[in-house]
Formats: sequence, C-alpha cells, structure tokens
Amino acid sequence: MSLDEKPSGEFGPPRVLVVDDEPSIREVLKDFLGLEGFDVYVVSSAETALDCLDDFRPEVILLDLEMPGMNGLQLLDELAQRRPTILPVMMTGYGTVETAIQAMKSGAYDYILKPFQVPEVIKVIERGLEQRRLEAENVQLKELIDLYDASEKVGEELDPDHIYDVLVHMMGTQSQAHAVSLWRFEQNRLPAQVRRWIDPDAPDSVGELLDEASRICVSEGQDTSTALILNNEDLKLPAASPFSLLCMPLRGEQSVLGTVIALRVPPRRRFRESKRKLLSILTDRAAAAMDNARLYGDLQQTFKQTIQALANILEDKDPYTRGHSERVSHYARMIAEGMGLTSEAVERIADSALMHDIGKLGIRFEELNKSDPLTASEYEMFKSHTTRGKWILEPIEFLHPLIPGVYYHHERWDGRGYPVGLKGEETPLMARILAVADTYDAMTSHRAYRRALPHDVAIREIENCAGTQFDPAVVEVFLAQMRAHYGDRTSRSERWRSLAE
Ligand SMILES: [Fe+2]
Repeated sequence: MSLDEKPSGEFGPPRVLVVDDEPSIREVLKDFLGLEGFDVYVVSSAETALDCLDDFRPEVILLDLEMPGMNGLQLLDELAQRRPTILPVMMTGYGTVETAIQAMKSGAYDYILKPFQVPEVIKVIERGLEQRRLEAENVQLKELIDLYDASEKVGEELDPDHIYDVLVHMMGTQSQAHAVSLWRFEQNRLPAQVRRWIDPDAPDSVGELLDEASRICVSEGQDTSTALILNNEDLKLPAASPFSLLCMPLRGEQSVLGTVIALRVPPRRRFRESKRKLLSILTDRAAAAMDNARLYGDLQQTFKQTIQALANILEDKDPYTRGHSERVSHYARMIAEGMGLTSEAVERIADSALMHDIGKLGIRFEELNKSDPLTASEYEMFKSHTTRGKWILEPIEFLHPLIPGVYYHHERWDGRGYPVGLKGEETPLMARILAVADTYDAMTSHRAYRRALPHDVAIREIENCAGTQFDPAVVEVFLAQMRAHYGDRTSRSERWRSLAE
C-alpha cells in the first residue's frame, strides 16, 4: 500500500508531530501525548519536520516559534504550501499578542504559551481535530451533492452523445483528474474511444500519457469489468512520468458497455479507494442512461418503421395520394419549425402528418376517387377517415402522440369542421398546423375531379381562409415560411423538384 493510500487518522490514533529545539519540551509532549493515545513523533528543527512529512503524515504539528535555522513562522508558510490540511499549533515562550496574531495570520490554527499545562495542549489538539473532521465532512457532503446532481443530469439524458459529453466532463471535474478517456464496447467490435477530456490546466504531456495508458488498459487484458486504481508499474510504463489511473466500468443491465478512465499526474495525488466509491454513483447512473438510450433508440426505430410501413400501405392503395402524406409532413415540419416549437414537437407533428389520412385505409377508394361530386353518403364515408384513423392507431400505444393530428385535422377555426366541431384553440395545435399543410398540398395536387391549382391561387385561398377555416397564426407562419423557402413566384413543380433534391 502506498503512503497515499494509508488510512487517515480516522481509523488509527491521530498523528502529532512536535517540532521544538528544546529537548525537555519534546520529551514532555512525547510522553504525555503518547499516554493520551496520540501517535507522537518529535524532531528538533523545522528542516527535519519538512523531511518527515511524507513518511509520518501528521495531522497536527506543534511547532516552536523560535528555532535556530528556519523559524516557526517560516515553517508555517512552507506547510501552507505543501500540506494545507495539516493543523498547525504554534508554541511560543515570547507570548505577546503581536506574535500570536502573526502566527494566526500565517495559518496557525491556534497558539499555546510556554510554559504550558499538558491538558491545555490536549484540549487545543482535540478541538482542532474536531474542526478538521467537520470540515472534511462538509467537503465530502458537498462532493456527494455535486455528484448526485451530476448523476441526475446524466440519468435524464437519452441521447448517447450527450451522455458521453456530460460523463467525461463530470468525471474530469469531480475526480479532479488531469484527463479522462471514455471507451465504448460493442458486440463484435473492438473497443473504441468515443470521448476524451483534458483539464485546461493539465501539463502538455497528459494527452499522450492518457492515450497510451488507456489503450493498454482497454486492449491488453486488464479486467475492464471491475474498477481499478493503477499506476506505472501495473501497466509496465516508465516510472519517469508517474501517473495514477482510475478505471471505472460502465456496467449495463446485461453487459459492460464501456469504461471511463481518469488520469492524474503529480502534483495531484494518486486516486484513492474512497474517491472510486464516490464516483461509482456517477458511472452507474451513466451506464443506466446508456442502456435507456439504447432502448429508446430501438423504440424510435420501431416507431419510424411502423409509421413508414403504414404510410406505404396507404400510398399503395390510393394513387391520388401518392407522395401526399410525405409532402404534408414536409410543410407541417416547416410550419412547426417556423413557430419555434421544440425539436421533439416538430418531429411529432411531422410524423402525425405522415399518418394523417391513415383512416382512408378502411374506405373504398374507387368510390371516392371519381370525377363526379360525392353523394351525401359518400361524403359521410369520406369524413369518417378521421375517426377511422384514430381507431387504427389506438391499439398501438407508442403511436398515441400522433392521434390528435390524425383525428382533428379537418376541424376548422370557426368550429364548422369535423369530426367534433372544435373551435379556435380547442383544436390541438398539431391538427391546426396539419390542416393548413394538408389543404395547400391537396389544392396543388391533381385529383380525379380537378387539376392541380397553381401555387399562387392556393396561397391566396389559404390566406383568405385565415380566421375561418384556419388558425390565422398558423397561416401567417406558413406564408412566411413559403416565401422564405421558395420565394414568391415559384411553381409547385419547381418547388417540389427542389424539395426532392
Ligand atoms: Fe384528411
């Protein structure tokens, strides 16, 4: 076990270093503090004290103010640089208020006037240790809260790229690493590095070191399913550039999905077991998010495939609507984007548009696609495609978000539409958008009973119907988007050609 991993005083007696050039003081403190259960080490000079910091790792230093060579105040300065967590207590025989203030200003936790009573010394040490313990607890608690927040953030992500970004950044900052590398394992593929994060303050050589060490870790037989703390010897790399490596597996429900590797170089300390345990909160959450993202991706794919299959069946059945659903979807997307809706809402509207006439599947097309006007009963049958569409999608739960567009796309702003007769904003926005997109495309397409209308005639018609048939706000965005995308005078075929390209 390296010194860095030596358990701190919490599990053993607190370590107290006494620095005094007076042998009698050293002796008294060694004996009495030893009897009180402290682990005591005594030295006669500040220089020796600095030399033994690494080996003895004191938690408290009792230091004399006046010593030959480096004095107590100079030693305080050194300690503040090298070991800011040690608790320094100044002992002074020249007890004036000024020296005491100066010692406290230089970072002493407290001071003791010589000659002292041993119980007084013990009290000061115990009070200091208690304060340090509380401080450490606070730091740990803060770390835990930060980590928890970070894990929550990762856990909410469904996009693998975002998960990777958040994970390497959080891992880097939370572990105080100089660099982090994230590797993804996928079946029948070699491990691949998907992200790399470098601390802006890291030394230049860190990137290269990270690449070499993590490559060895991932590809040369290290067990990537367990968390490991490794150093130069473990990876057989030259000791000249020492490092400490923390490898954390990303354990998914069924398999190890990857590993995240953090690297530290001096002067930062080696990774410790306690840090690893803390960080496993983050990696476990990230692995769960990666699992979810995969499931969500599969579901999305099934969703798209199902929609496409249904759209294909519809198009195959009705030659007059060939390409119609796709174009309506394009115009609906254009409007939704123009209205500044979220990308999720835009997708939902575009998908609903692909499905909007799905209810026509149950209708006899030969009767509807005729050049004569529809009879009253034929018109009723035509109108039923909205309710039939809802009925077709209802058994497929993941298609439910598309139903409002399918069911209400023939509602009108003035309440004279069907199937329900909703008015104004009672009709879901999705359906109000689809109504404009659908009507524009229907007017500019050939039908059995009429030829396609020119673009500007259709646009005028839509404009005229704002506030009666259509939501005026939707019409406004539609017109602006049409102008922005295609200009004022392009013909429909030109536009559609540019769309196809
Ligand atoms: Fe329709």
